Amino acid sequence: MPVSEPQLALPERPPNLPHPEYQTPHGVSPLQSVRAAGLQYPNYTPFKLPNLTEKPFTDRGLSADPTKSRLLQAATAVTHLTPEIGTELAGLQLKDLTDEQKDDLARLVAERGVVFFRDQDLDVHQQIAFGAYFGDLHIHQMAGIIPDLPWVHPIYKDETAVNGRSHQIWHSDVSYEIQPPGLTLLKMDTLPNAGPEGGLAGGDTIWASGYALYESLSPTLRSFLETLEAKHSGLEQAEKALRTNGCLRRDPIETIHPVVRTHPVTKWKTLYVNENFTKEIIGLEKRIGDGILDALYRTVAEGYEFQVRWKWTKNAVAIWDNRATFHTGIFDYFPHLRHGLRVAPQAEKPYLDPESKTRKEALQQETGKNK
Ligand SMILES: [Fe+2]
Repeated sequence: MPVSEPQLALPERPPNLPHPEYQTPHGVSPLQSVRAAGLQYPNYTPFKLPNLTEKPFTDRGLSADPTKSRLLQAATAVTHLTPEIGTELAGLQLKDLTDEQKDDLARLVAERGVVFFRDQDLDVHQQIAFGAYFGDLHIHQMAGIIPDLPWVHPIYKDETAVNGRSHQIWHSDVSYEIQPPGLTLLKMDTLPNAGPEGGLAGGDTIWASGYALYESLSPTLRSFLETLEAKHSGLEQAEKALRTNGCLRRDPIETIHPVVRTHPVTKWKTLYVNENFTKEIIGLEKRIGDGILDALYRTVAEGYEFQVRWKWTKNAVAIWDNRATFHTGIFDYFPHLRHGLRVAPQAEKPYLDPESKTRKEALQQETGKNK
């Protein structure tokens, strides 16, 4: 008897996708199915998309129960991996979460920066549907895609990876966009056998908390940073794409964002500049602005107490808040294969609410109120 395909709420496909005859089967990794269809994977066949414009966005975390009880009480274990960032939940399957639990998850991710799940039974279609609950899914301007599922960004390296440097720079994903992603999901399905004698090892990812980094700075510096905006640019990435594989789907853009932004759910301030995409601070002499940016990047890289390092296992999922964290993948596994799939719902246009507080200030105020 034919098995009916599950009905999932996938976004509408752009009309001009490459290879319209190809369809990823349900329950199969596109890493296998795309190649089995005789196509390149990830796929760089050029096609054009309209440029992105600002769209309304409401964070699902605003509908959460502030205690996140509907989610946390359903977990069999809740493990905070460091004081500042990172929580692992056990005993849950993302595909089975109710909308109420997803709302609580959005709030937990906003608060803890990154939340981890192991052993997820979640195929690529289910992952897309799950991500689409939280916002319009981002399609990358130049990265390789799955031909029929362009909202998925394959994280892929093998023996052909000649330069993994960009993965080792601390960053926030595609911060040059008008509305960069908020909550972002990465499921890792193939891990590198880069350990001694071919054992499984390598390819960990590190996240750093933007809230914790920001509140570690002196009040005087924080006040100054709050007056600043910075230019984030997708041009360098686009130029590299045109030099190498010739695939660019939208006009590359540069966007001005505040150096310090407010998270719409937690209302906490977080640092929002990153070494990959932030090019200059507006209104300062370039030399001075670059000096400030370099000092902030060093604080991101060297603030070990604000970081969590995650050791992937097959089918583990990380969900991070791309607004309030930085991350970097450790490229210590060349020439071995590492593969995962990323889905990134876009969030609000970054803003700074002058009434918002650092995380510690807000929590202290909350404690004071409850006394
Ligand atoms: Fe990234």
